[in-house]
Amino acid sequence: MDVRSLTSPFLLVLLLEQVFPVEGQTTVDFVSTEGFETTQESQPTNVINLSLRSSLSVLESAAFVQIFIDVIANFDSASDVETILCEFSFTDGSTSGNSDYGPVVNLRSQTFNIAAGTSVVSFVIQIRNDQIVETDETFHVTLTASSGTDVIVTAITGMTSTTVTIQDDDTAVISITDGTGNGGLIPQNSNQLVFRVSSSNAFQDDVTIDLQYSGYADIFSGNPPSSIVLPAGSTSQTIVIPLVSGRNEGRQVTVTATASSNNPPVTISQPSLTFTTSNTIVNPVRIGFSSSSYVVTEGETTRIQLSASSPVPVTFQTGLVASGNVNEIVIGNTATFTTGQLITSIPVTAIPDSFPESGEIVVFSIDPSTFPNGIIVDPNSATATLVIIDATPSPRTQPIVVVPPFPTVPSTVATTPRLAYIIVGVVIGLLSLVFIILCVACCCLYFASVRPIGSTGSYDVTPYEIRHPNFRFARKRYIDDFYF
Ligand SMILES: *[C@@H]1O[C@H](CO)[C@@H](O)[C@H](O)[C@H]1NC(C)=O
Repeated sequence: MDVRSLTSPFLLVLLLEQVFPVEGQTTVDFVSTEGFETTQESQPTNVINLSLRSSLSVLESAAFVQIFIDVIANFDSASDVETILCEFSFTDGSTSGNSDYGPVVNLRSQTFNIAAGTSVVSFVIQIRNDQIVETDETFHVTLTASSGTDVIVTAITGMTSTTVTIQDDDTAVISITDGTGNGGLIPQNSNQLVFRVSSSNAFQDDVTIDLQYSGYADIFSGNPPSSIVLPAGSTSQTIVIPLVSGRNEGRQVTVTATASSNNPPVTISQPSLTFTTSNTIVNPVRIGFSSSSYVVTEGETTRIQLSASSPVPVTFQTGLVASGNVNEIVIGNTATFTTGQLITSIPVTAIPDSFPESGEIVVFSIDPSTFPNGIIVDPNSATATLVIIDATPSPRTQPIVVVPPFPTVPSTVATTPRLAYIIVGVVIGLLSLVFIILCVACCCLYFASVRPIGSTGSYDVTPYEIRHPNFRFARKRYIDDFYF
C-alpha cells in the first residue's frame, strides 16, 4: 500500500506518456498537418542554441582532447533539464582517424543533459600517442545534427565545426653507443670501429644526423661518414668504420652527433662516445729486409731494401744497424718510410783499398726504437748479410796462404806441438851423429884392410900407422917383416 502511494505520481506520468505520445518527435511528425500548425500551445517552449568552440589544440601526450560546445539554454523553468542528441562527423586533415585519435565509431553520437543554467557541454576524444617524432596534425569535428525531446535544438550557423590540432610533443633524443657492446673499447684483433646512432623515438620522415670525429681519427681507414640518415620509422643505425692496419695501440677517437635538421625537431645535446683501441697492437705493420743477402764490389754501391707489410701512413726513420766489417763500408742516410710507401732502400758503398783480401761480410739488422706504435720488425726478415767482393788483383798466381795466427788458447794445448818439435829435432840430431860416426868407422876399416899381393891374408893396421905420413913405407916394412 505504501509503495503504491509513493510511486503513483510517476506511474501516472508514465501512463499519460503512453496514452498521449505527442511530445517531441511526434510534434515534428505533425508539422505538415493543418491541425498542428494552429495548435501553438503544444509546441515546446524550451530552446537550446549550440555552438562549437573553434581551434582546439592538444598535445599528443595529453591522452584526450575535450570538444567544447557552448550552450545557450532558454528554458521556461529554471528547473528544466533537457536531454539532447548530437551527431558529429570527423574529417582527417593530416591525421589518420582511429590511428591518431578515436576510435571514431564511439564518437559519432553524443548525448548531453542540459539544465537551464548550462553554458557549455563537452565530450572527449582519445588522442593516441604514437611516439613518433612528426609534425603537428589536424582533424575536423563537425556537428551534423542535434535534436531533443520537447525542446528546440538549433546549431548556430557557422559554429558547427572546429579544427583540432594535435601538437606532437615527441622528441627524439639521439645517443651514440658502442655497436659491439664493449663500452668503447675496441677489442684485440678487431680492425673496425662499430658504433650505433640511436633515437629514443622513431621519426615520421627520414632524419639526417651529422657526425664528427675527434682525437686520433687517423686510425680510420678511409673517410668515416660525416652524416647518417635515420629512415622513417627507424630508431637506430649501425656504422662500421674499418681501421688502418696496425698503429692502433691505445688510440682514442670520439664520435659526436649533432642535429642537422629541425624538421621534425630532434633533441640532440651533443651525444658522444669515446672509443679506445686496445693496448694490443692490432695487425701490426712488419718491417723487414727485402732480401736476406746482398753483394757489393769494392768501390761500388748497392742498395739494401726494406719492405713494409702494408703502406704505413706515417713518416718515420728506419734505423739500420751494421756489424762485422763495418769499416769497409759507408752506409747512406737513414732509411725513411713515407706515407703509402711499401719499400725503402739505403745505399751502401764498399770502400776501395789496395789490399787483396776476401771473406769480408757485414750483417745488417733493424733498430725498431724509432718505430711508431703498431710497427714491428718482421722476425722472419730481421737481418741481411752483405758480402764485399775484393776488387784488388792479387800479385801472386798461387792462392794466398793464410797463416793461422799463433794460438792464444791455453798453454796445455799450445805446448804439445812445441815439445814434439824439440823431441823430433833431438832425435834427428842424434841419428845424424850416429850416421857420421858410422861413416868414419867405415872409412877407417876400409883404409886399414890392406891386402898383400899374392896373399889372401890381411894385417891389422894401427891407427897410428894409418895416420903416419910414411904409412906406405911402414906397411912395406911390415910386408917385408912378414916375408922375412
Ligand atoms: C537559437 O535557436 C532558436 C530556435 O531554434 C533560433 O530561432 C535562433 O535563431 C537561434 N539563434 C542563433 C544565434 O542561431
